[in-house]
Amino acid sequence: MKFQSVKGTRDFYPEMMRVRNWIADAWRRVSLRNGFEEYDAPIFEYLDLFTAKSGPEIAEQLFSFTDRGGRNLAIRPEITPSLARMVAAKVNSLPRPIKWFSVPRLCRAERPQRGRLREFFQWNVDVIGEPSVLADAECIFVLVDFLREVGLTPDDVQVRIGSRPLAVAAITAAGIGETGIDSALAVLDKRPKVDDGQFEKLCEGAGLSSQQIECICEFQDVEDLAELKKIPSLEKAADGIDDLVQLFEYVEAMGAGDYCRIDLRVVRGLAYYTGIVYEVFGEGESLRAVAGGGRYDRLLEVVGGPKVPATGFGMGDVVLEILLEEKGRLPAELRSRALDFFVIDGEDGIFETVLRVSGALRRAGFEADFSYKRQGVGKQLKTANRLGAAKVAIVRADGVSVKDLSSGKQVERTLEAFLADPRGL
Ligand code: HAM
Repeated sequence: MKFQSVKGTRDFYPEMMRVRNWIADAWRRVSLRNGFEEYDAPIFEYLDLFTAKSGPEIAEQLFSFTDRGGRNLAIRPEITPSLARMVAAKVNSLPRPIKWFSVPRLCRAERPQRGRLREFFQWNVDVIGEPSVLADAECIFVLVDFLREVGLTPDDVQVRIGSRPLAVAAITAAGIGETGIDSALAVLDKRPKVDDGQFEKLCEGAGLSSQQIECICEFQDVEDLAELKKIPSLEKAADGIDDLVQLFEYVEAMGAGDYCRIDLRVVRGLAYYTGIVYEVFGEGESLRAVAGGGRYDRLLEVVGGPKVPATGFGMGDVVLEILLEEKGRLPAELRSRALDFFVIDGEDGIFETVLRVSGALRRAGFEADFSYKRQGVGKQLKTANRLGAAKVAIVRADGVSVKDLSSGKQVERTLEAFLADPRGL
């Protein structure tokens, strides 16, 4: 019998693992330098945690199962509900603001396509316990800090920022009652992702009249915050406009403004968002968003905790990697493996010294390797090249020839001098 990997999953052979680690290392480095601490949660939870307030889209994409004890469980499709559960359980003993990040492996039973898989990694950055828009601005700054770190410029990617309260005000002003708001938001979330014809069909399905759609779309197409203030139906949502103005001032002050632009078409697909929302898109790309997030001030209550404000985002590795590859921003070094030293037998009967040198280099923290076979120097040099060794140490009874494989420079050293300072050429 021959087995294949499951549709929508990836096998990480070492060359793919190098890219995955490079991305995850950058996620961690940027999180830490912005003052965030790492956490993690179980990969499966009670099913109800995910159906409580994530919305129908996520619920339909769950890998759920019943365990032997009859418990209804699901593999995590996102980590935000687990984060809310964890914080709610200890909320009184955690000093605020809580600035946490995580890099969970997630599963969603989506139809696999370019940029969309059934298993992926997602960087999560969240600030919990801070109601001010400063926390939203800080999360956006972290996001931009990462984009810059991996060489993506404002020409490559943009953070498009919208507002749930403003979208809800526009929907209400269009005459849609309380009960229709969630489904109207779900339809609006699709607007930038489908063509006009498809959008019309979705609106019809949600019972929206063409007049209502027109009214909402007119609001969504405003690109200037000052213009928003003039729209009479948004009077009641003045706080939402002020929040956006303040947010742009903060991100500008932190030096992230060049990546950010207002886009009121962004409302987000998940049901728990309550405030400023944003998505990151590659320029001219029809792929799904690289990242998305926003404020979710009621999720802790939904999972049985007190009312605690929260905001944050998630960035997936799949779309990010496609974008980095397209823009040529994945470092060339990732294409081959790397090694500090390859230790070579320079003559017969020297293998014990080769082992001694290799062991000493490894104990000193160098990445060092040697051949399992006793072969001629030429063959071993070939292996060293294949393994991406920076240098080779050719060991003989009377000393070591150390050769830099990229410059070709070679020096002769005694064994003792080499081991005392392997770096010196
Ligand atoms: P989300 O928009 O569902 O948000 O996912 C965020 C990002 O994860 C997406 O922009 C995309 O890059 C990636 N992603 C999602 N699903 C897939 C998939 N099937 N295949 C590949 N990549 C995918 C959330 O998950 C929120 N919990 C984020 C958040 C954190 N909000 C506040 N804090």
